[in-house]
Amino acid sequence: MALDKPSTERMERIVSLCKRRGFIFQTSEIYGGLNGFWDYGPLGTELKRNLKELWWRRMVRERDDVVGLDGAILMNRQVWVASGHEATFSDPMVDCRNCKSRLRGDQLAKKNGQRQCPVCGGTDLTEPRAFNLMFKTYVGATEDESTVSYLRPETAQAIFVQFKNVLETSRQKLPFGIAQIGKAFRNEINPRNFTFRSREFEQMELEYFCRPEQGLELLEYWLKERLKFYEDVGIASDLLHVHKIPPEERAHYSKGTYDIEFAFPFGVQELEGIAYRSDFDLTQHQNASGKSLDYFDEDSKQRFVPHVVEPSAGVDRTVLALLCAGYEEEVVTDEKGKSETRTVLRFHPRVAPIKCGVFPLLKNNERLVRQARDIADSLRREMMVFYDEAGAIGRRYRRQDEAGTPFCVTVDFDTIGENGPANKDTVTVRYRDSMKQDRIRIAELSDMLREKIR
Ligand code: GAP
Repeated sequence: MALDKPSTERMERIVSLCKRRGFIFQTSEIYGGLNGFWDYGPLGTELKRNLKELWWRRMVRERDDVVGLDGAILMNRQVWVASGHEATFSDPMVDCRNCKSRLRGDQLAKKNGQRQCPVCGGTDLTEPRAFNLMFKTYVGATEDESTVSYLRPETAQAIFVQFKNVLETSRQKLPFGIAQIGKAFRNEINPRNFTFRSREFEQMELEYFCRPEQGLELLEYWLKERLKFYEDVGIASDLLHVHKIPPEERAHYSKGTYDIEFAFPFGVQELEGIAYRSDFDLTQHQNASGKSLDYFDEDSKQRFVPHVVEPSAGVDRTVLALLCAGYEEEVVTDEKGKSETRTVLRFHPRVAPIKCGVFPLLKNNERLVRQARDIADSLRREMMVFYDEAGAIGRRYRRQDEAGTPFCVTVDFDTIGENGPANKDTVTVRYRDSMKQDRIRIAELSDMLREKIR
């Protein structure tokens, strides 16, 4: 695994690029922000949408055994009682008596055998106590125990409680899955590492229901599928690490769990968990609600509660991994021998926020501008395009390199036939990674680009 040493400086540069280029902003920044909450700017929004769309394509649309759900964020409180979240979804919280910081008790370094506050270095800390991570709210106009609800801390529970409705309406047979992408909220004691640990984030979750005897095999199957997905979005396998959770660290109901981890600049950390959760969730909800959540097997004529394998990925963490994996500063030398550092985001064209930059060579030549605008308008029907006529061509390329745009198209005097008929109706395509250029016919442009961004 090509795991660099944790690098604060690299992370700071990535955060700074995210703000400078409009990937990610601190939320409510003009009011001083809100710790653990982030807003995605124009480029970040596209990147995130592309990631979610690809996940949906691979996990739902390209399969005939997975269907979708879009559940409510607020649900009946009993969902969270039955799932165990109300009683046990907590982290150990510790207070520093010296600087009053609130800390995660399980993430403290020790100094001379004593737990140490990472903020002030003090060692006068309280004993850990359980802090429930769910955001509590009240539904309706009365604020009392009877109206309590929670912002969901995971999307999975809506899938479990709608299992029967989906089964009956989709007429699926085991094994089959229900997928969901949506917001989740956790009142993390210590949000940190940019968007890595946020208080509001998105999850992409699949609950894949099966017969008990299929569970362990499907756990291995989904681990392989999910690793393939990360390669598909352009995260090299040498930046990923599979951590098999030992039995003593697994949830009591889990019969096997893997974490897929990524080498972030701040360390190797979890991107996704894949857990074989047995029949725990459906059984809990069946017992608590008194409604049957079982499955009737036509072949064996048996009725049973299905088991489930759950690949659960974070959208924001994967977006952060894409930014970290793609970020590079490299020294390049132009044809005049002048060197400069170019910053480039080497996104796979599938997830890149802008697929193609389109430039007229000169902005004060009406024919060049008209032709470039026509090309941009026609490509825009199929993909995200950025038209730019400001500044020297080299600077425009650099701006797109920083945005991670894989292709740039330039309309020049050859295109409009001023240098003879040979190259009329052709443009140059410049490739972000190699910086090489090709001439290609305008008529072939959209096919060529479509093929590469698929
Ligand atoms: N239903 C299972 C479940 O929620 P989890 O490991 O708690 O499992 C799944 O969460 C994924 O959600 C994590 O692997 C991570 O990618 C993402 N995630 C969890 N907490 C997060 C947080 N505070 N900020 C950003 N992403 C988070």
